Amino acid sequence: MGRRALLGAALLLGLLALAAARDYYDLLQVPRSANDAQIKRAYRKLALKMHPDKVQGSEEEKKAAAQKFADVSHAYEVLTDPEKRKVYDRYGEDGLKQMGGGGRGGGGGDPFASFFSNFGFGGFGFGQQEEEAPKGNNVVVELEVTLRDLYLGGHFKLVRDKNVVKPAPGTRKCNCKQKVVTKQIGPGMYQQYTTQVCEDCPNVQYVREPETLTVHVEPGMPDGHTITFFEEGEPIVDGEHGDLHVVLRTLPHPHFERRGEGLMYNATISLLEALVGFEREIEHLDGHKVQIGTRGVTRPGEVRWFQGEGMPQFEKTTRGDMWVTFDVSFPREVSEEQRAELRRLFGGNAELQRQQRDEL
Ligand SMILES: *[C@@H]1O[C@H](CO)[C@@H](O)[C@H](O)[C@H]1NC(C)=O
Repeated sequence: MGRRALLGAALLLGLLALAAARDYYDLLQVPRSANDAQIKRAYRKLALKMHPDKVQGSEEEKKAAAQKFADVSHAYEVLTDPEKRKVYDRYGEDGLKQMGGGGRGGGGGDPFASFFSNFGFGGFGFGQQEEEAPKGNNVVVELEVTLRDLYLGGHFKLVRDKNVVKPAPGTRKCNCKQKVVTKQIGPGMYQQYTTQVCEDCPNVQYVREPETLTVHVEPGMPDGHTITFFEEGEPIVDGEHGDLHVVLRTLPHPHFERRGEGLMYNATISLLEALVGFEREIEHLDGHKVQIGTRGVTRPGEVRWFQGEGMPQFEKTTRGDMWVTFDVSFPREVSEEQRAELRRLFGGNAELQRQQRDEL
């Protein structure tokens, strides 16, 4: 019992470490190649979404959202500082800690307050201009993952052809604006009209290029979970690129079935095993063994519960449970000899009892 508890504690610690070591790029939902402007815009979008006024739910959920925003803010702080970003890219979070002052929550206080006071609405481009900027199409791609991938988490390379804006010969009209022109057409007479005024910009063209993205799958992500990469969708000239949504699709597993955070498993045992008990171990998704045997009687269709052997819960340190359904395989036939033996063993039969009485 003590050993079990110890194991549980070790597992919990491992999971906590995993949760803390979340990648900065993942937190900001941008690829590693993202430039400063992209990171800034991603941060702004996340900040607006995570603002306490916008988060609905229990106090606990609000607290979790605030913590996540603090993490996102820290990631933002690091990735927009060229020096820190270089260190992070090479040595990760540990490198930053050694650099000093790289620890989380260095600023302290309320991250939302500092977000809105440091950058303000105008400084961050909350203005109307940006609202009106054209936005490229969002792209949805599916990523097939195994149940094991979702159990353990992992990194997956996603290669896709993407439209990229490249320079082209010549110029094009750009930054067009409606301008009101006032013209004097006579003494004291003015005519007002609007006209479109454009600038000449270097020409561009769309080129399809393969692009590799790394998708970080966290342990316990549900089927259908969407991982968004800001501005990795369809590009648009002079506008904001669309987003890329990666939707996880779970491939069927030969033995396990997932229901939420629960796992289902079917086991077949013999009639003898059902009656006298048995030892059996099954291999879990990560290879660890689970003893599903019993010394007792197992009825056909009986379901046994294995606490904590289910899927990890996404963004939590807890785990779901596993349920094993036992199917009992009956013999096709019973020989005369077995019949007699069984009658003897289980008594109960009138014919047998008569025979036994006769013999006495
Ligand atoms: C277990 O068996 C039932 C009945 O045949 C089936 O519906 C279910 O999908 C099976 N579950 C697993 C985990 O294979």
